[in-house]
Amino acid sequence: MEEIIIHGGHRLEGTVMIDGAKNAILPIMAASLLATSGVTEIEDVPILADVFTMTSVLESLAAQVGFDQTQQKLQIDASGSLTHEAPFELVSQMRASIIVLGPLLARLGVAKVAMPGGCAIGSRPIDLHLKGLRQLGARITQNGGYIEARATKLIGADIYLDFPSVGATENIMLAATLAEGTTFIENAAREPEIVDLAIMLSEMGAHISGAGTETIKIVGVKSLHGTSHQVVQDRIEAGTMMVAAAITHGKVLIKNAIGHHNRPLISKLTEMGVTITERDDGILVEGPTHLRPVNVKTLPHPGFPTDLQPQMTVAQLMADGVSVMNETVFENRFMHMNELRRMNADFEIEGNTLLLHGKADLRGAQVEATDLRAAAALVLAGLVAEGETRVGQLQYLDRGYYLLHQKLSRLGADIRRSDVDENGEERPILNAL
Ligand code: UD1
Repeated sequence: MEEIIIHGGHRLEGTVMIDGAKNAILPIMAASLLATSGVTEIEDVPILADVFTMTSVLESLAAQVGFDQTQQKLQIDASGSLTHEAPFELVSQMRASIIVLGPLLARLGVAKVAMPGGCAIGSRPIDLHLKGLRQLGARITQNGGYIEARATKLIGADIYLDFPSVGATENIMLAATLAEGTTFIENAAREPEIVDLAIMLSEMGAHISGAGTETIKIVGVKSLHGTSHQVVQDRIEAGTMMVAAAITHGKVLIKNAIGHHNRPLISKLTEMGVTITERDDGILVEGPTHLRPVNVKTLPHPGFPTDLQPQMTVAQLMADGVSVMNETVFENRFMHMNELRRMNADFEIEGNTLLLHGKADLRGAQVEATDLRAAAALVLAGLVAEGETRVGQLQYLDRGYYLLHQKLSRLGADIRRSDVDENGEERPILNAL
């Protein structure tokens, strides 16, 4: 079984590079399906399990995909004829596969995608995706665990989202690029990854404005072509590193991180006493000797990201006093707390509110990741816990972080990744994927 093994108590210092954003690359890969001519080249591709899964999804649809891992470049050729069915084996591995529904429907007039199930952090329905596609003229049926969408022609529409869902906004944007006429998405998600997708689609020949605001306007075009695109930096990986520096009283330059993508985290860490300097080449984070407690509520962007909530709870535990975390985006995203309790964390959960009693005297323990960001939070806790922490179930970590242990080790953490057999024998793992 693979584990990350950490001996806590080391201050982090130095410079760390951030990879391209997981949540940007997945819809961008799906967007490449819209190109009926030319090849799409994507740069700064993070080497993540989810990228391999999306590669398999695209290949299952008959697109040609080449992934040069050394150069971190993807080449996708979707100019040949595509098939329209994304199978259950792949969609069940990664919920985000549902993002191919919009582009397949727009390009082929038919798309069949396995219904994604719930996941550890919540039930995660896709009603808003389907409502938007219906408004564009799709007929949607559900049968045998599959969603099938059909339309002889998609027609632009005014679509209001009850909630600014990231995935729904993306699926509708992707479908609307080839619809006849103009589509407005109101109460759209405003995440930086939505902006990156809009940039990519514009480079492919789409007419999109307003991405990053509450209203996105898409004027349909007849066809799209391949392009070259560089993926935006991962603000969640950057945020995870910022928390790591803050809790270890460290001094870390997070190279290429973009300040305005992480405004809520910067604001909260500053409130806690962390010194943050936004520079041309990245964000410099200097952790204080004592962190002040802080109250946080997760919200859609530009609010505090739910994907940094588990990591932030570790910072809150390390503050001198009581902090509150209110999770409003997902209904079941405190599972990492039960593992942190095994590390001596003191807290109470009431519904979607968490009361954290700092300053925690965290002790190393054997813990298991329950989802991607929970995995990151447990690694962070290991950095400040006394003694040895062993984090298992690393398949979750590999979905969103590439060589996190190596990056932290270069900053001075005592951390390694190993394959540990039943006798406790270790075999070091250098490259997880
Ligand atoms: C994306 C991110 C994920 C992040 C989340 C919220 C990707 C690949 N994943 O997920 O990392 O945690 O945004 O920032 O980009 N909802 C509905 N009906 C829908 C769609 C969503 O009720 O049709 C609800 C969800 O259950 C959830 C909330 O809306 O409670 C937010 O979901 P959404 O923004 O859609 O997240 P994802 O796109 O799945």
